[in-house]
Amino acid sequence: MTALSRLELLRADITTLAVDAIVNAANSTLLGGGGVDGAIHRAAGPELLAECRTLGGCPTGEARITRGYRLPARYVIHTVGPVWHGGDRGEAELLASCYRSSLRLAVDNGIRSIAFPAISCGIYGYPIEAACRIAVSETSKFVQTAPSIERVLFIAFGADVYDGYEHALSLL
Ligand code: AR6
Repeated sequence: MTALSRLELLRADITTLAVDAIVNAANSTLLGGGGVDGAIHRAAGPELLAECRTLGGCPTGEARITRGYRLPARYVIHTVGPVWHGGDRGEAELLASCYRSSLRLAVDNGIRSIAFPAISCGIYGYPIEAACRIAVSETSKFVQTAPSIERVLFIAFGADVYDGYEHALSLL
């Protein structure tokens, strides 16, 4: 399958999706927070926080995997996006690294379908158009070398993110 045909854009609440893994836009403590992180912990139940406590946190740009507990998804891949500081503190490379690290964990764990929220596009303030371009270009590059990944879903919670992804996908 070509890279493009494996990428999908969907408007949804990521906690409802029956995919092999959903990605969490976490913070470096991995102990929960607001936004999509809060929604995932609420839907997964307290067992998720208990497993996260065993991980000892996660640096920005990296990812860690847990089970999904009460979620329809089997796994949660927690990644820590950069806080936007204006663009000259390595934000773009760190955000690209989040997508690569998450997809690498997916491959290593036999995950064939994975859904991403728009990492860093909420509380962390990353400009949406630029973040969507990075998400799409890193993911499309990665799946070209990873035939086991069958579906990557980009999840838009709001219209602004949906438009950002639609534009980024049109540039491929
Ligand atoms: N499903 C899909 N997308 C969602 C959902 C949902 N249920 N809820 C929010 N979004 P954010 P960040 C979108 O703020 O910017 C937390 O406190 C949201 O509209 O969740 O990486 C963490 O603990 C936005 O487009 O993550 C960190 O401290 C996108 O998900 C910090 O926030 C990401 O927004 C991380 O900030």
